[in-house]
Amino acid sequence: MKKPGRNDECWCGSGKKYKKCHIDFDERMEEIEAQGHQIPDHSLLKTKEQIEKIKESAKINIAVLDYVAEHIRAGISTAEIDRWVHDITVRMGGIPAPLNYEGFPKSVCTSINDEVCHGIPSEDIILKDGDIVNVDVSTNLNGYFSDSSRMFCIGEVSAEKEALVDAAKQALQEGLKEVKPWKFLGDMGNAVNEYVKSCGYSVVREVGGHGIGLEFHEDPWVSYVTEPNTGMLMVPGLMFTIEPMINMGKAPIYTDEKNGWTIYTKDGLPSAQWEIQVLVTEDGYEIITY
Ligand code: MF3
Ligand code: CO
Repeated sequence: MKKPGRNDECWCGSGKKYKKCHIDFDERMEEIEAQGHQIPDHSLLKTKEQIEKIKESAKINIAVLDYVAEHIRAGISTAEIDRWVHDITVRMGGIPAPLNYEGFPKSVCTSINDEVCHGIPSEDIILKDGDIVNVDVSTNLNGYFSDSSRMFCIGEVSAEKEALVDAAKQALQEGLKEVKPWKFLGDMGNAVNEYVKSCGYSVVREVGGHGIGLEFHEDPWVSYVTEPNTGMLMVPGLMFTIEPMINMGKAPIYTDEKNGWTIYTKDGLPSAQWEIQVLVTEDGYEIITY
């Protein structure tokens, strides 16, 4: 950890002297690190100014998903959803973060039924009655990033699928209960996993959440198959996504060989995912994007 001198300006951007600002905070982090834990680099902790700008980005992300929620229905193609996302994002001054991200060809991910994540919108994929679909929206506004996803049930969905969708949403609440400064990311992940297991479902192991804000994907990597008291220390200013993928059957997955992106459940059973972006605050958390 790089530390300023006692009388130098604090690293947090407050303009205060280090000795009057984060000196005790850093000492507390160092003690925890000395016990063998992983602590966040200062660069991962968002300043007030950065948080305000990320919230502007989040406004777009939320507006886009609200529009999708109102208009999604049986009979439309996932390419239609892609056009909504692209057009609203650009009209509001942003850039869809997925577009050209590591070669991703579209502005949004649309993942249906046994697709776990990273489904690519297409004119050939038409939503039909009984589908469950995840729409994963991410926005870059002036270099500040937001990311969230929701599930949509198309027409009459089976009770089994509906229960899966509800459990994936509730899993976020179970995780959020553990998001507090001086706890660990593993506490959050474990709460998600225990809840999901209690429903008889499984959490995908290979794909998870991530730090976010100044980049689309930052440290830390956020797993939901974790032990309590492990993983990165949560402190105020840390920002990350909670986005567990919940499989109705078994956890194993595979990636589409042809497009290199879309991930499916190995057993062919449905998968569901909701994603929120959260900030660790002085006394808990704040939801930035949903
Ligand atoms: N939105 C996804 C996430 O939650 C990332 C998708 S990467 C993309 O992290 F290129 F497929 F868009
Ligand atoms: Co994400």
